[in-house]
Amino acid sequence: MAKITVSLIKADVGGYPGHASVHPDLIKEGEKVLKEAKKEGLLIDFRVMGAGDDLQLLMTHNKGVDSSDIHGLAWQAFEKATKVAKNLKLYGAGQDLLSDAFSGNVRGMGPGVAEMEFTERKAEPLVAFMMDKTEPGAFNLPIFKIFGDPFNTAGLVVDPSMHAGFIFEVWDILEHKKVLMSLPEELYDLLALIGAKSRYVIKRVFPKKGGKLPVDEPVAVVSTEKLYEIAGEYVGKDDPVGLVRAQSGLPALGEVLEAFSFPHLVSGWMRGSHNGPLMPVSFKDARCTRFDGPPRVVGAGFQLSNGLLVGPVDLFDDPAYDITRQKAQEITDYIRRHGPFEPHRLPLEEMEYTTLPKVLQKLKDRFEEVE
Ligand code: 13P
Ligand code: 13P
Ligand code: MG
Ligand code: MG
Repeated sequence: MAKITVSLIKADVGGYPGHASVHPDLIKEGEKVLKEAKKEGLLIDFRVMGAGDDLQLLMTHNKGVDSSDIHGLAWQAFEKATKVAKNLKLYGAGQDLLSDAFSGNVRGMGPGVAEMEFTERKAEPLVAFMMDKTEPGAFNLPIFKIFGDPFNTAGLVVDPSMHAGFIFEVWDILEHKKVLMSLPEELYDLLALIGAKSRYVIKRVFPKKGGKLPVDEPVAVVSTEKLYEIAGEYVGKDDPVGLVRAQSGLPALGEVLEAFSFPHLVSGWMRGSHNGPLMPVSFKDARCTRFDGPPRVVGAGFQLSNGLLVGPVDLFDDPAYDITRQKAQEITDYIRRHGPFEPHRLPLEEMEYTTLPKVLQKLKDRFEEVE
């Protein structure tokens, strides 16, 4: 059977209200465009979803990654949705479309992209994770736990088909370089990098030789676009998405989800300039309200059937995550009391807005040497 490509491409083309959620008409417009493409045979299947204020296009096809047909289709859907957003005067309509002309690939043009091509197995469980009000590095901790931490993933210890570990592809998003690292052998080296999550991000995970899966087909992928670097100025946080395959030689679905049971601190939140806990929520609760947050993650679970998307199951719509949400709310309440103080406010070099140059300019003549 031909390989399947799964592409998850997202953009904020207008918030409703403010940066809280996606207006249902944008989802309808996205569905209209993708339905046509499915009819024409470009797509095998699709789902259009909203997570926070980000419009999410999940597509399956046979075109491989970085296909100009698929990226062009996504761009067209975002442009049409932007028109709807403009008519409704939604907030920041077209925010993430940084260029007026599509040139073959949406990478570097604003939208976030997670896509992988692989041979569909006899049963192919797949989770699409969509985060709002945070950055790609927010995936480092959960992806590490899923594929590298035996206290999270029992299969690393007890399942012979994954006992050898996994290969992590890490990107230096500042220098635009990447490195492949092998776990468990390079555990401490990997953590030295990915703990610095604003710079080093896990892009993909691959299986190792001797397991059940081909070593050149990814088992997880995360979007790593950095909007502020692309635009040269602040245009909104680059809210990331990720795709994770599960079971049969890979972490079980429950091991994948277990990694989100700890609401770790991520940067983003209000004005892209604050640290806060990542709260797993259902689609219904993926509205960013309190201080435009706290940062949220939604999990949509599917089985693939010859490229058809069977699902989604709204995976965090589950009382088993109530305790995580409770903890996230306690952390929210605690860290909010810091107001403009670090570590709630991001350190200067990571701030996406700053008045500091102006303040310093104003005080320029009043600064004196300290004796
Ligand atoms: P697999 O061997 O199919 O991954 O099943 C393991 C399992 O379901 C444990 O939860
Ligand atoms: P988004 O990146 O989700 O649009 O949020 C921007 C923001 O400034 C929230 O306060
Ligand atoms: Mg927004
Ligand atoms: Mg957003």
